Amino acid sequence: MAVLGVAGYALDVPDLDAGVAFYCAAGLVPALADDRALLSCPGAEGPCVTLLRAGTRMRLHHVTLRADALDEISRLVPQHGGALVDAPAGWDTAGLWVSDPHGVLFHLIEGEAAAAEPTGPRFAINAPGEIVRVRRSAMAPVGSYAPARPRKLGHVALFTPDVMASVAFLTDAFGMGLADRAQDVVAFCCARQNSDHHVIALAKSPGTGLHHASFQVADPDDVGRAGQALANAAGRGHWGFGRHTIGSNFFHYIQDPWGSWFEYYADMDFIDDHALWEPTVYGMEDAMANWGPPVPADFVHNYQAESGQ
Ligand SMILES: [Fe+2]
Repeated sequence: MAVLGVAGYALDVPDLDAGVAFYCAAGLVPALADDRALLSCPGAEGPCVTLLRAGTRMRLHHVTLRADALDEISRLVPQHGGALVDAPAGWDTAGLWVSDPHGVLFHLIEGEAAAAEPTGPRFAINAPGEIVRVRRSAMAPVGSYAPARPRKLGHVALFTPDVMASVAFLTDAFGMGLADRAQDVVAFCCARQNSDHHVIALAKSPGTGLHHASFQVADPDDVGRAGQALANAAGRGHWGFGRHTIGSNFFHYIQDPWGSWFEYYADMDFIDDHALWEPTVYGMEDAMANWGPPVPADFVHNYQAESGQ
């Protein structure tokens, strides 16, 4: 075993207030310090997003992963093109700090992957020949719904100039598994045991950076409801409601204040044992979605890789 799940990520942002407003509108709960904001899913033990006031444009500071066998990882990292580095000033020195072959910073901490609490009644649909809901409405009046609650940070998607080299590092040094990919343009890595279909996704780009972070909600209705509400509040681009081929999750993406994306997801494939999973190499027609609205023109634009950074 090795990496077990994603615990969080940290961003340098030029405008902390805009960041806090966005994540609060998304349903996360803030705790504020002088130069940073810590944001948590409601009811979660700790924060999963850290925003630091720094720089003139957003930059991915690091990704935090939960793992075991840190000694084994520390031995493997240098063998596979990464480097063990000191904790950045002001950050927890526990665990391992790793710079990957492209210079992306990871913080590996000991611990189990976060589990999301059950959400109550299961989403049920009346299908032809299979009626499971009778004498009651599936939907309540619009005004009766509380804002959807993000249950957990499920995955982060990172830009990389070499998708397959990044997959090799995550599998060989971090002990993750390749779940599926579309050519060498996007790839999806999971923990080897009891994992969402992907914990880290990778997308080809001229530079590194954060493409999106994805938060689980209860069901497809919550994806649509929360996605539309955040899209309205954020006032930038959005993409959804739709369903991915790879991972099977329903999705709605909303553009954050810096051009990256926040995803709500529900009903993702689950891999209990990667040794029993057969990775598929998909064509590019399946790289984005199985169905959904047109993809925004800048959906895979890496604003963090633009010149002048
Ligand atoms: Fe995603």
